[in-house]
Amino acid sequence: MGDDLNQIAAEVRVCSLCPLSQSRTQAVPGEGPPNAQIMFIGEGPGFHEDRTGRPFVGAAGKFLDELLSLAGLKREEVFITNIVKCRPPANRDPRPEEIEACQPYLDRQIALIKPRVIVTLGRYSMARYLPNARISAIHGQARRVGGQWVVAMYHPAAALHQMALRQDIEADFRKLPQIIAQANQDETSEPEKPEQLSLF
Ligand code: URA
Ligand code: SF4
Repeated sequence: MGDDLNQIAAEVRVCSLCPLSQSRTQAVPGEGPPNAQIMFIGEGPGFHEDRTGRPFVGAAGKFLDELLSLAGLKREEVFITNIVKCRPPANRDPRPEEIEACQPYLDRQIALIKPRVIVTLGRYSMARYLPNARISAIHGQARRVGGQWVVAMYHPAAALHQMALRQDIEADFRKLPQIIAQANQDETSEPEKPEQLSLF
């Protein structure tokens, strides 16, 4: 049998490949339909995610729901996951070796879902695609990275309480329908891939 999302989630829930397995309550594999057109990658589970085993259910998650509605998207139609699947103690930053240990799960999720567009939330998921970029310079721009359309955005938890970032992230989410439409068109009709969508 081939790989599937439930199989990956089952492996994540019992994973002990890095030390975060020792402090977690529940691992948070991520959730959403296997045919999602768009995938959101956050940083790592927080307190509420660790308790419930579900991504983005705390304050940042409520804000993410609002942002999704600005993009005309429902949570049920998108895939939401994190760069590390277990909560770092006291919400510290994930360490490079933890990110590396966890990467195969995210790689497999992406390989199965084949999203048209990946939205990175915060710098850790951005670094997977654009290691030298600054979010302040590139947020909201659709970029082709290794055959994948990627849009870097601020992390909702950061943007929630900083008005300038909040206005930026809201504007960026409002651009998503057009970015998705362009990425779909690009997939069906465009043999030569442009470096960047001509949206801005
Ligand atoms: N912040 C994240 O990066 N991910 C979550 O799942 C929740 C909060
Ligand atoms: Fe395994 Fe990832 Fe959790 Fe580390 S963070 S224990 S690699 S699932």
